Amino acid sequence: MKAMTYSQYGNPDVLELTEQPLPKVGPGMVLVKVRAASVNPVDWKIMAGHLDSLMDLQFPAIPGWDVAGVVESVGIDAPQFQPGDEVISYARKDFVHGGSFAEYIALPERLLARKPETLDWDQSAGLPLAGLTAYQVLTRLGVTAADTLLIHGGAGGVGSLGIQIAVALGARVIATASAKNHDFLRALGAEPVSYGEGLAERVRELAPAGADVVADFAGDNLDTTLAVLAEGGRHASIADSSVEQHGGTWMWVNPVGADLERLSRLVDERRLKVEVARTFPLEEAAEAFRLNMDGHTRGKIIVKVSE
Ligand SMILES: NC(=O)c1ccc[n+]([C@@H]2O[C@H](COP(=O)([O-])OP(=O)(O)OC[C@H]3O[C@@H](n4cnc5c(N)ncnc54)[C@H](OP(=O)(O)O)[C@@H]3O)[C@@H](O)[C@H]2O)c1
Repeated sequence: MKAMTYSQYGNPDVLELTEQPLPKVGPGMVLVKVRAASVNPVDWKIMAGHLDSLMDLQFPAIPGWDVAGVVESVGIDAPQFQPGDEVISYARKDFVHGGSFAEYIALPERLLARKPETLDWDQSAGLPLAGLTAYQVLTRLGVTAADTLLIHGGAGGVGSLGIQIAVALGARVIATASAKNHDFLRALGAEPVSYGEGLAERVRELAPAGADVVADFAGDNLDTTLAVLAEGGRHASIADSSVEQHGGTWMWVNPVGADLERLSRLVDERRLKVEVARTFPLEEAAEAFRLNMDGHTRGKIIVKVSE
């Protein structure tokens, strides 16, 4: 099969389109023909070697932890899916090797969920990793309709989905982005504020009593978080481990198919949508990485693998 691979750590220049063996479909596994994958910052961070102390990786590695596609075949004792089923997955396995930037990917069936009926393939591929991250953080923080929530990084993959999930939970949402994304944030249901110098004051103007909950989806925001958090408030970060020393929760997204099914339902209830910034063909995956590395993706960047 055709796959985008890298055989050494490095920048997007190490990516090459290669021919790889079709993955084996062991017991409890499902083989998915990939229609689309999405880019997450973790993909190029792994490729650069930044997670080497945390996760094993086997070269040649196929990047990509998000997938939307069609079940091609199922292994022994994988009763939940049939060939032809349309599925999505946060396809993080125990070690980095066989990712979603390939024509086929083999996955344990517990990582799969039904594709939302109301999204196309590109949008569906943008949902799993970012959507699960936002959902699991907001759930862990116990966000409810009684809360004023501040989201750092409202316009990115995680933030744009996080705003909508929090709105669906009934919370009042204040979210940060640069000025060019303020209308986008408003359309998602948030009150936008610009990040940078003076952010805490801007948040206090909107919410004089402070934020009950702060979700940091951007990193480097601890001082502001502590400055705006109401008495007894809760906070978490996905991009800054130092929150743990200040009463916050440092989180890593968990690949749980059941949570993904919940997100899929939220989508089909029209309460959650996926903004696609741009779609690249598989051959141009390096360009897709470079664009995301600029740090200003609105929503998700998609890699289309097959029609
Ligand atoms: N721990 C986990 O499980 C986990 C899971 C997913 C992601 N992450 C990490 O979380 C971060 C966000 O992920 P993502 O997928 O949402 O990334 P992304 O889609 O690439 O985020 C891009 C967005 O970040 C915004 N941004 C840039 N600098 C900002 C700042 N200083 N304050 C607020 N917003 C800023 C940009 O908005 P403007 O264009 O308006 O500047 C842009 O919309 C990354 O570091 C990623 O590695 C961690």
